[in-house]
Amino acid sequence: MAVRVGVLGATGAVGQRLIQLLDPHPEFEIAALTASESSAGKTYRQAAKWRVEGPIPEDVAEMTVTETDPDAVPDDVALIFSSLPSNVGAEVEPGFCEAGYVVSSNSSNGRMDDDVPLVIPEVNAEHLDLLEVQRDRRGWDGAMVKNPNCSTITFVPTLAALTDYGLEKVHVSTLQAVSGAGYDGVTSMEIIDNAIPYIGSEEDKLETESRKLLGEFDGASLTHNSMEVAASCNRIPTVDGHLENVWVETAEDLSPEAAKDAMREYPSLDLRSSPDPLIHVFEEPDRPQPRMDRNVGDGMAIAAGGHRESTFGLQYNCLAHNTLRGAAGASVLNGELLLENGYL
Ligand SMILES: NC(=O)c1ccc[n+]([C@@H]2O[C@H](COP(=O)([O-])OP(=O)(O)OC[C@H]3O[C@@H](n4cnc5c(N)ncnc54)[C@H](OP(=O)(O)O)[C@@H]3O)[C@@H](O)[C@H]2O)c1
Repeated sequence: MAVRVGVLGATGAVGQRLIQLLDPHPEFEIAALTASESSAGKTYRQAAKWRVEGPIPEDVAEMTVTETDPDAVPDDVALIFSSLPSNVGAEVEPGFCEAGYVVSSNSSNGRMDDDVPLVIPEVNAEHLDLLEVQRDRRGWDGAMVKNPNCSTITFVPTLAALTDYGLEKVHVSTLQAVSGAGYDGVTSMEIIDNAIPYIGSEEDKLETESRKLLGEFDGASLTHNSMEVAASCNRIPTVDGHLENVWVETAEDLSPEAAKDAMREYPSLDLRSSPDPLIHVFEEPDRPQPRMDRNVGDGMAIAAGGHRESTFGLQYNCLAHNTLRGAAGASVLNGELLLENGYL
């Protein structure tokens, strides 16, 4: 029987992608949709300005959107996907966990808390066991797992493929799509014919989340990876797909060919939303590109290319679909991992 799930922030950019992924999902059944007060009481069709390709799934369109409150969600819902603004997430997500719901969240609040697993299943599935520490410490019947920021998810799997070479220093510069800012994030007057070399708090997220994701969990606590990471983030006028330029300095010699082999061979998982291969390596020097390559692996794979030697070690480019692999798909994959590990 499918697990009944709820979606918080169901009308937003990530919420709509969640609906798109969850509606046909055989393991999950959408049973609750929430958003802000202004959407509560409307049907989903009335509340959501649907901007995902294809029509709104019929069985979701006539569901009523409720306020974002645990009392508004049926008790038989076992899993909550959250795509709320982080200030709202910080306010309401703990209440859902206290009320016994398991929450798989996109919002940045709590990502760096030392008892909150920040998970990309193909990279650090073992960190999920931090939930035992979390439940002991917080006394929750429910639980909270986070996926990282969309730009962090894009480059960390490529680094994970290179860990045997000893990661020392990483520089990453991003070219991020407008959908990453949410539906009301960037106006057309700001972004058309332009690039914006500032995304609030974004650099810090790439620099800290990457070290947590590649850290070691000993069953009780997590030690962050010792690599140094420097990030620079830019908004550009693409719709979906974050492209990133990465420089990696390693302890061991690492040739572009060895790096490509390591990325090609990096394993995916036997979970429904994990693509095989996880990392699609291009030989063409001008790929990956957002419009051409954001949908590799149904938008769940990482695309990489342009591997070459540089003054600052190995250089390459990588790309991921920010609202699929970088957000909604990441949460759904964490939901599948929670299910496989008996948390639901
Ligand atoms: N976009 C991405 O690529 C991406 C990637 C990774 C992570 N994230 C994170 O995911 C979260 C959602 O991002 P988004 O891009 O989907 O944002 P968005 O398009 O602005 O959507 C926000 C959602 O939250 C609801 N909401 C706003 N204020 C609320 C309140 N006070 N109480 C209850 N619900 C409220 C909105 O409902 P109404 O429609 O009723 O206003 C809407 O459903 C953010 O934390 C973001 O940082 C986004």
